[in-house]
Amino acid sequence: ASWEKQVRHSSTPRRPNGFSVLVTGAAGFIGSHCSLALKKRGDGVLGLDNFNDYYDPSLKRARQNLLSKHQIFIVDGDLNDAALLTKLFDVVPFTHILHLAAQAGVRYAMQNPQSYVRSNIAGFVNLLEVAKAANPQPAIVWASSSSVYGLNTENPFSERDRTDQPASLYAATKKAGEEIAHTYNHIYGLSLTGLRFFTVYGPWGRPDMAYFFFTKDILQGKPIDIYKTLDQKEVARDFTYIDDVVKGCLGALDTAEKSTGSGGKKRSPAQLRVYNLGNTSPVPVGRLVSILEGLLGTKAKKHVITMPRNGDVPFTHANVTLAYKDFGYKPTTDLASGLRKFVKWYVNYFGMEPSKGTQRAGETS
Ligand code: NAD
Ligand code: UGA
Repeated sequence: ASWEKQVRHSSTPRRPNGFSVLVTGAAGFIGSHCSLALKKRGDGVLGLDNFNDYYDPSLKRARQNLLSKHQIFIVDGDLNDAALLTKLFDVVPFTHILHLAAQAGVRYAMQNPQSYVRSNIAGFVNLLEVAKAANPQPAIVWASSSSVYGLNTENPFSERDRTDQPASLYAATKKAGEEIAHTYNHIYGLSLTGLRFFTVYGPWGRPDMAYFFFTKDILQGKPIDIYKTLDQKEVARDFTYIDDVVKGCLGALDTAEKSTGSGGKKRSPAQLRVYNLGNTSPVPVGRLVSILEGLLGTKAKKHVITMPRNGDVPFTHANVTLAYKDFGYKPTTDLASGLRKFVKWYVNYFGMEPSKGTQRAGETS
């Protein structure tokens, strides 16, 4: 195929004993940041993304352009395309997979439940099947989610808390991913590390997330909805800045053990790990809005809804002791500083003219 030459080139490590990493979801928010960070330190990177239109694909193409300036190539393809994935592994002996491709977003699961099953369950299994058959087998680090804690009331959340009360189909598919990972580790000796990200935000972020479309709506003078919990408290999130999450992803890759099987055969158990990657400091949504108002110099038209949003959990709060112990994960960016960087990027990307943001950030309402 025409991509073969570029693929070989773009995935060649440039540091001694560097990794060769397949990054799925590389045109996405977290995937694009991680790809750049890996490349900058000298690892070989190849991206995979299907550029779907869950949110404005022009933003994914813009991230792709940024990556291509750094000689990172993204193959346009789907996780469910087994022949393509097998071919990629034939061309490049990947040492690692950073699996970030998924159908994200909590509320959209009410509109299009099958897209979650397709990408987060079927697509994940497809990728694991190909990884299992590869020789050598790559170590896999993949995106789980804070949403697996669902209605857990322990505060903060630690990895051993219960995860059997998902509040959305998105959460259920992420939880299913963790169970599926367990079986592939158990039977085939695949090295698997799951990262439970907590509401990640920052430059090049996702237009379907609240901080992003609140910014757009405040600039346009449109009202924003603020939901409450069932007992009329403010909803809070452990908003985590992208650069902290990137460091966590790289730390997890660096400490991933090798898989113990090869070519579909196993067998001593390799590691299966799951970590929280959060900020350890939950912030109520009202506070998020007031920080944005300050940065944008405009008051929001707040519309308070005295009901929880379908699929929402009342709060998230990460305990990150385990990630700190195993790979030194330590979040360093508070919400105000991180949002300042986001707003700077937003204004630069869309311009301050509110209507421009509508055309390009699309779909959110
Ligand atoms: P994103 O939507 O920006 O990135 C995901 C990318 O995967 C997109 O570019 C999309 O086109 C691609 N993709 C989706 N399905 C695919 C498929 N079947 N085949 C190939 N490509 C496909 O989302 P993100 O915020 O960067 O999230 C990355 C990962 O982290 C996801 O697994 C998400 O569930 C998880 N996560 C994100 C957050 C957050 O707050 N951003 C929090 C917890 C977990
Ligand atoms: C986010 C991501 O969208 C998920 O992909 C991810 O898996 C999840 O984080 C996670 O941490 O695992 P969520 O925290 O629901 O999910 O992110 P937003 O949709 O941006 O919502 C953030 C907060 O804003 C929530 O408390 C929500 O109640 C609130 N919100 C959202 C409003 O008050 N009004 C809105 O119109 C939208």
